[in-house]
Order: sequence, then C-alpha cells, then structure tokens
Amino acid sequence: MANTDAFERMERDGWQDPGIAQGYAEGFDLATRQAADVLAETVAPDPGYSALDLCTGHGVVAAELLKRGAVVTALDFSPAMLDLAQRMAPGATFVEGDVMAMTFPDQSFDAVSIGFGVPHFPDPQKGLREVARVLKPGGRLAFSIWRGKGSNGAFGWLFEAVGRHGDPAVTLPDGPDAHMFADKEVAEPLLTACGFTDITMLELQSRVFVSSPEKLFDAFDKGAVRAASLLGGQAEDRRSAIRAELSRRVQDEGTADNGGHLVPTPSVIVSAVRA
Ligand SMILES: C[S@@+](CC[C@H](N)C(=O)[O-])C[C@H]1O[C@@H](n2cnc3c(N)ncnc32)[C@H](O)[C@@H]1O
Repeated sequence: MANTDAFERMERDGWQDPGIAQGYAEGFDLATRQAADVLAETVAPDPGYSALDLCTGHGVVAAELLKRGAVVTALDFSPAMLDLAQRMAPGATFVEGDVMAMTFPDQSFDAVSIGFGVPHFPDPQKGLREVARVLKPGGRLAFSIWRGKGSNGAFGWLFEAVGRHGDPAVTLPDGPDAHMFADKEVAEPLLTACGFTDITMLELQSRVFVSSPEKLFDAFDKGAVRAASLLGGQAEDRRSAIRAELSRRVQDEGTADNGGHLVPTPSVIVSAVRA
C-alpha cells in the first residue's frame, strides 16, 4: 500500500522550506510564467468573476488572473510560498490551507486554476473532488503538468540521467505518478469520475532559462521537492555524473539565449468544466 502519509509529509516539509520556495520561483520562473498566461486565458474569467488559484506557489497564475480583472483567492499550504505570492500578486486574497480539505463553502468560485500543483496531491482524486465541490456548475478548471519520463526536455533528461548514474537504492515515499495527468487516457476518466466534463489537453512548449548549463541540475536540486530528495540522497560522485549529463544536454540541445540557455521543458494544460 502506498505510504501516503510519508509522501504528504515530504511534500509539505519540502515546500515549506524558504530555500526550496525561492529556488523554485527562480529556477522554473520562465516556464511557470508561460504556463500561467495560458492557464489564466483558459479559465478566462470575465472581469469581476471569482477565481481560485490553488497551489498558488509564488503567485504567477494569481497575477495573470488579476490582470484579467478576476477577483482572486489564492491558496497554498506553504507560508514561504505565500510570502513570495503576496509580492507577485498583491491584489489577491491569500489563504494558508490544504487543497485536500478546503474550508470554502460548496460552489464558491466561477473558475479554478492549479499551476503545477496536482502532482503534489497525495490523493489526486480526493483533491479534484474538493475542486469540483468548490466550483460552481459550469465553472472551468485548468491545471498544468510537466511532461515527464520519455519527454524531450528537462524532466525527461533528469529521469534518463538518474536512471544511468543514480543509485537505485535511493527511493522516495510512494506517491502518485507526478506526470500521469499529462496523458489524456489517464486524465479523462479520473476527471470524469470527479465530476468534470468537456476535458481538453493543450501541449505547451514551455522553457526554462538557465544562466549556465550546470544550473539545470541546481533547479531540480534546490527548487523542487521530489527531485531534490532523489538527488540529495545520491553520493557525491553520482551527483556529479548526473550534473555533467544534464549540463551536456543543455549545451547540445538547449538554445543559446541572452548569455544563457533556454531548455525545453514541455508541459500540458488540462482543462475541464464542472458538470
Ligand atoms: C510546483 S509549485 C507551483 C507554483 C505555481 N502555482 C506555479 O504555477 O508554478 C507547487 C505548489 O503547490 C503547493 N502545494 C502542494 N500540495 C499542496 C496542497 N495539498 N495544498 C496546498 N498547497 C499545496 C506547494 O506549497 C507549492 O507552492
């Protein structure tokens, strides 16, 4: 049986670390802003509509919703992230809370966005049923997911490098597959079972900017939770080998830009309507 408690603890402790919060906001900045723009456009709240941004993190999606005139509530369980979000999206109302058990009344919001948050739910179905509960019927949900194993980009490269150089004895608490919702055959039945309809998927060619090739390793090592735990558990020689492989791929397959490199980090925007 999956050890959901250990997974939940790892996620909560990780994101509450101010260093990880800042590392994520810096390391994944460009890609999160690209996805945030599309998420806000997808839920398309009319001015004055109420939008709930879950797992708001450093507030990039909340800021895009505000730009479009929505009345924004932004929730996260990490005070360190909420500190960053308050600076990014000062017009939103911030709530410290857990998506798994929200205190909002039923049918409170016209739209819900979740930027790169669903993979962190210990029980994705429970989380999505909570989202369905607080959305008004006909309200739209949109969330973003990184493409993972097998994808040509940062996360795919990380899996390959860890597979080649990592210590197989380093394992993480069992949790849901972080990238499964990028697959429509998985996402559609789960979302339908949670009370959603009209499910669509949009591929996004998002990119991360690194000032030097070695920084891709740092983005995962200092600005993520699962990946950081996996890398943190490796011996120094294995870490060096993973770092070197990621650097080489950034050099060979990234695009030189503005003194650094743009790294493909493909993602998917999933959208659905509350039935
Ligand atoms: C990868 S960051 C995403 C930040 C931002 N939304 C974006 O688009 O880049 C994930 C965020 O989800 C939050 N989070 C993860 N699980 C959560 C939960 N169960 N309830 C509330 N927040 C959660 C973390 O604290 C973190 O800020």
